[in-house]
Amino acid sequence: MKPREIKTGVYCVGAIDWDRRLFDSLIPLPDGTSYNSYLVKGSQKTALIDTVDPTKEGILVDHLTELGFPKIDYVISHHAEQDHAGSIPCVLDLYPDAKVVCTVKCKGMLMDLLLIPEEKFITVEDKETISLGDRTLEFIHAPWVHWPETMLTYLREDRILFPCDFFGSHLATTDMYVTDEGQVYEAAKRYYAEIMMPFRNHIQKNLEKVKGYKIDIIAPSHGPMHNKPDFIIKAYNEWAFCEPKNIVVLPYVSMHDSTREMVKYFVEALTQRGVTVKQFDLTVTDIGKLAMSLVDAATVVIGTPTVLAGPHPAAAYAAFLANAIRPNVKFVSIIGSYGWGGKTVETLAGMIPNLKVEVLGPVLAKGFPREADFQALDKLAETIAQKHKETKCAS
Ligand code: FEO
Repeated sequence: MKPREIKTGVYCVGAIDWDRRLFDSLIPLPDGTSYNSYLVKGSQKTALIDTVDPTKEGILVDHLTELGFPKIDYVISHHAEQDHAGSIPCVLDLYPDAKVVCTVKCKGMLMDLLLIPEEKFITVEDKETISLGDRTLEFIHAPWVHWPETMLTYLREDRILFPCDFFGSHLATTDMYVTDEGQVYEAAKRYYAEIMMPFRNHIQKNLEKVKGYKIDIIAPSHGPMHNKPDFIIKAYNEWAFCEPKNIVVLPYVSMHDSTREMVKYFVEALTQRGVTVKQFDLTVTDIGKLAMSLVDAATVVIGTPTVLAGPHPAAAYAAFLANAIRPNVKFVSIIGSYGWGGKTVETLAGMIPNLKVEVLGPVLAKGFPREADFQALDKLAETIAQKHKETKCAS
């Protein structure tokens, strides 16, 4: 695909990665992704805003060649992660006079991660500007979106915000702009859950910070651009500021069907009490979907058998993941079965120190669940429904 013009002299020069299915050897990418890079020509200077993942640097170079290989004066580096910064060394080889513009912290990280020499950098403070002649780039520091060194760029005259990962989505598409809002909402929520949610407080602050800018286009570093910026800003406000809803997320694993039988009963017990349940079998679940479900859930209940005196490793992984991405959940509990004993509850409860939650009494059945166990599940479902009402969880 050839480079495409957003406005006269402003081009998309990045790459679509249709086939990538895993990010950071961790995050599933069911819809691929893109590494968006932008070229901004002013009357005197030209800037390249971010680069692409090193696996796609040939596409970036092809795009620059298509545009007549314009002289690049500045390479704006918003964020030192490889998917945006990884081709900076290649660009600097092609343009030895270009300077890398970034925050002080980003400079250190790029020197460490990509071994870029110190003399290649210009560092910028928050709100500092660089003139390209008839165009002005304003840099907005946005730490922890989602690394500590991150900044955004606002192209004043064109009212375009380049926010790097902020407002992005892992979505491979030939559409320059969002066309299917439902699809992008899902992809952006998944991205928020996996990447941004651990830094929710910082996201809130940075949402406040960009409020002051008049924005016609948001051009993120992943997924399509937003020519109706309110759509994604509203979605981010909803995810970052909302109180948990009347939802129970139920990741579970079962070895010999005892836990599965309990999960089946429990889902029905909660549903009968008006609670929405999102159930995930951890042996087949896409963890991105699990992460998304945690964005607005009030409660997490983990279902697990006892294995070697503790939780099943898949359940431990779910607890570790939930602790790492720090959803705004209020209540946690555990259900499952055991053969002869163990420390399943203590182990799982000890794995979620980041979550400021009330731990509700677990229900563990010895072997296959019996009447008393089902009654205990009813009681737990009732407690959860009541807690959700008391905390005024929205539906
Ligand atoms: Fe898209 Fe944090 O890199």
